[in-house]
Amino acid sequence: MGTLIKNGNVVSAAGSMVADVLVEGELIARVGAGIDAGGHTVVDAAGMLVIPGGIDVHTHLDMPFGGTTSADDYEWGTRAAAIGGTTTVIDFALQTMGRPMTEAFKTWRAKSEGKACIDYGLHMAVTDLGPNDSWLDGVDAMVAEGISSFKIFMAYPNVLMVDDRTIYKLMERTKQLGALVCVHAENGTVIDAIVQEALAAGHTGPLYHALTRPTVAEAEAVHRVVALSELAGGANVYIVHVSCEDAMREVAGARERGLPVMGETCTQYLVLSIEDDMGKPGFEDAKYVFTPPLREKKNQAPLWGAVKDDVLQVVSTDHCPFRFKDQKTLGLESFTKIPNGGPGVENRMQLVYDRGVNMGRMSVERFVEVTAEAPAKIFGMYPKKGVVAAGSDADIVVWDPEAEYTIEAATQAMHTDYSIFEGFKVKGNVRQVFSRGELVVEGGKFTGVVGRGQYLRRGLGEVLAG
Ligand code: URP
Ligand code: ZN
Ligand code: ZN
Repeated sequence: MGTLIKNGNVVSAAGSMVADVLVEGELIARVGAGIDAGGHTVVDAAGMLVIPGGIDVHTHLDMPFGGTTSADDYEWGTRAAAIGGTTTVIDFALQTMGRPMTEAFKTWRAKSEGKACIDYGLHMAVTDLGPNDSWLDGVDAMVAEGISSFKIFMAYPNVLMVDDRTIYKLMERTKQLGALVCVHAENGTVIDAIVQEALAAGHTGPLYHALTRPTVAEAEAVHRVVALSELAGGANVYIVHVSCEDAMREVAGARERGLPVMGETCTQYLVLSIEDDMGKPGFEDAKYVFTPPLREKKNQAPLWGAVKDDVLQVVSTDHCPFRFKDQKTLGLESFTKIPNGGPGVENRMQLVYDRGVNMGRMSVERFVEVTAEAPAKIFGMYPKKGVVAAGSDADIVVWDPEAEYTIEAATQAMHTDYSIFEGFKVKGNVRQVFSRGELVVEGGKFTGVVGRGQYLRRGLGEVLAG
């Protein structure tokens, strides 16, 4: 006996059709019209969208950062993701400088083991190529372990930042293997100089986190990393958290030139801004200190346009939550001590649907593409994940396009004492979530067993060319 999701509007990037979806065990057995109910459990999805479970390829769970650790561990973060309609996350294992990548892999597998509520993969954040670049062999070892994407930071000097030579050498290797380099693109050393100037002038409040990280510093880094990719023979590149028009134009230019460059933006850059959210009294705006920072509102329309027009392929969250009361306040004396990051994994689908589809900024098909299908393709999980089709994992969201919801910290599953989207009203929300055939969310509650999520051994991804 399986589960038959009947009469929903089944959406993929290619189109939508009213159909039934038969789930047997962990997989989708059939998608089509008029499937016989037989002895199956029937879910009436008339009037609903039936969409692939969301895939958030940018989260930081249980991550040591800024003198503390992100507030959601693998259990809490993945439960919140599921409640918001996301059935897969890709998190980051961070290589410790002076230690090989294999060690970071073991550490992050141990953090996640037995805790995840949905399936998850890992990127490897590379910080050190080791003596005579000998740890580059770790790249091959990681690909064999199902890690096909490698993150580098061009920001955070002395913590995570790598130099151009490291990027180039890493790209030579990923190019050979067909793996992907994900890039936090900001000019870390120049930003550091600007930060020191601000501090010397007595500017210590949260607003100065944003004002000391100009959009040009992001655009310059995108430009440079694209050049490094060319120098390495055309390595596949994915720019994470593109936050502004200047940086987005660099991605657009690279894609127009036919280079294997892709990118994402995050929900916060689409709906929040310096004008609306920074400069609040009482240290309130420390809640919005993440990197890259919030930008001027004029950047939002170009970013929405880039998502619609496939300049950017993905919307993720960069979910990196810190509590206000005892974590963000570490930076009361200086914005440089505020842990960088914000909560968002629970609200991505709601916000992209409401502010995107409902406001006419993208079609429902594009919504599915940027939240599930393209991430699955780029990160080597398609068609196991990212599509409602026979043979795929039964990661399915029954989405009620009429459901109205107000985002509030008081009712969220994420473990922060605030929401950066507090009071946002959305129309369109999760009704049920299935993860590998199991009903894991109903009535806004997680109904699965903690630890049921599986580590995903990902293959090499596709380049979604311009
Ligand atoms: O502020 C952020 N984004 N924190 C997480 C680390 C990163 O840069 O993605
Ligand atoms: Zn980053
Ligand atoms: Zn991040």
